[in-house]
Amino acid sequence: EACERLQRIRRHVRLVPDFPSPGVLFRDISPLLKDPDAFKAAIDLLETHLRATCPRVDYIAGLDARGFLFGPPLAQRLGIGFVPIRKKGKLPGPTESVSYALEYGQAELEIQSDAVEPGKKVVLVDDLLATGGTMCAACELMKRLKAEVLECLVVIELLSLKGAEKLQPFRRHSLLQYD
Ligand code: PRP
Ligand code: ADE
Ligand code: MG
Repeated sequence: EACERLQRIRRHVRLVPDFPSPGVLFRDISPLLKDPDAFKAAIDLLETHLRATCPRVDYIAGLDARGFLFGPPLAQRLGIGFVPIRKKGKLPGPTESVSYALEYGQAELEIQSDAVEPGKKVVLVDDLLATGGTMCAACELMKRLKAEVLECLVVIELLSLKGAEKLQPFRRHSLLQYD
């Protein structure tokens, strides 16, 4: 059952060569979002995983922008709050911010200083883990707020970019892996 759902999700991830820059193999989740059964399968599997591994999670924090597609439905399923981690300049202050590099560029992530209370347990959600630059920046923001990262959760992991190594010692889980 879980296997069939994983296959359905995999069939709805499109490979786009040379986007957004030459040499990058872009994994496009638009077909997944467009297919209600595939999208539901992804949320189902993320929910099942978190119920089993992180029963005491206080908040889901989602990473701007594609983490906002999976984080809020997941938080609703679990009956907990959702916290947005945004690209810089979008949130009214006071905020904390961290700059980082990703597979094809550079950016800065920001969170409101009161978004997560000290000591609270958070699961970070994004669509995809590539180099891990984005997820590491989110972990650093949680550290600044003195929150505890229970796990970094993504739909897709690009193994060759070694995000897992960069993320250590944080726990990590992905539904689909590509070389
Ligand atoms: C993409 C993706 C992840 C990140 C992964 O976000 O959604 O957040 O790259 O790359 P990394 O592991 O090398 O850091 P991107 O900032 O490109 O755009 P988005 O606003 O569409 O999420
Ligand atoms: N974010 C970083 N690298 C990516 C890739 N190869 N495909 C889709 N999103 C990404
Ligand atoms: Mg992103």
